Amino acid sequence: MLQFNKQKRLKHLLTIDGLKKEHIIEILNKAEDFFAPDSNQILQTSHLHGKTVANLFFEPSTRTRSTFELAAKKLSANVLNLDISHSSTSKGESLRDTVRNLQAMQCQIFVVRHSSSGAAHFVAEHVNEDVSIINAGDGTHAHPTQALLDMFTIRKHRGEFHKLSVAIVGDILHSRVARSQIHALQILGAAEIRVIGPRTLLPRHIEQLGVKVFHDLPQGLKGVDVIMMLRLQNERMQAGLLPKGNAYYRLFGLTTKTLQSANKDALIIHPGPINRGVEIQSDIADSPNAVILDQVTNGIAVRMAVMSMLVENAKGIK
Ligand code: CP
Repeated sequence: MLQFNKQKRLKHLLTIDGLKKEHIIEILNKAEDFFAPDSNQILQTSHLHGKTVANLFFEPSTRTRSTFELAAKKLSANVLNLDISHSSTSKGESLRDTVRNLQAMQCQIFVVRHSSSGAAHFVAEHVNEDVSIINAGDGTHAHPTQALLDMFTIRKHRGEFHKLSVAIVGDILHSRVARSQIHALQILGAAEIRVIGPRTLLPRHIEQLGVKVFHDLPQGLKGVDVIMMLRLQNERMQAGLLPKGNAYYRLFGLTTKTLQSANKDALIIHPGPINRGVEIQSDIADSPNAVILDQVTNGIAVRMAVMSMLVENAKGIK
């Protein structure tokens, strides 16, 4: 498989699918080690001293791009943020040629976000042996580091996965995050995974992934320990998938009323960006059980763990 080297060690991080539980646990434990003892402060280390990380974001990003940059700097790497709108992509240069040029600049890690599903795989197929690719979100396919930081956050706040009933709510059809979350929760042995959303925003045959499907939010939230909210991905949506007006919020918004069905202390997470009053009531997004900003902080440590692991695994590879 493309994401492993000949020694069967992780070379690229392209999807969660195909990882083993040991890989995920190793990343989560490594991420934990990047926090100062009994503190939320992330340590400065020299794991990537002398290496260069290139951020290639062909789609907008606040959290992923910034936390990859901070993570690389915390590991003492050089960071190159390619400004795509001012790069030669606008003059017709292909993705492959852009990457070849960045390789010539001696970048060792490429963090790639792209609107096309499969873009990170494509880059991974065309880079030198000593270069690692991290998928920072490709189309509707995968967002593996988001799922890993979500797992880190759930483990930190709620402990063992085999005891947890988890619900993923919203626009699952267009969500690369949901796909990666489902794979990660399955690999970690979550007791139950539910997906909740309108029929138009759930992929056909999603139950084949081993999840329980609900089209009624209060029913789907009954007794869950963790609620993973998603935003509506209007930029990827065809017309007619949603009813007009605020019907979506009324039926699928996480509000004081709908939240009553879940366990009293249910943990609420959201990958961001959040749309207040669209998929989540504003004060619920800011409530103590919503750990949305903690997810962002954890994202730095988890991305440090992934990058340091890939560089460690690449040692001695020619
Ligand atoms: N969660 C996430 O991918 O957010 P950004 O689009 O801001 O990176």
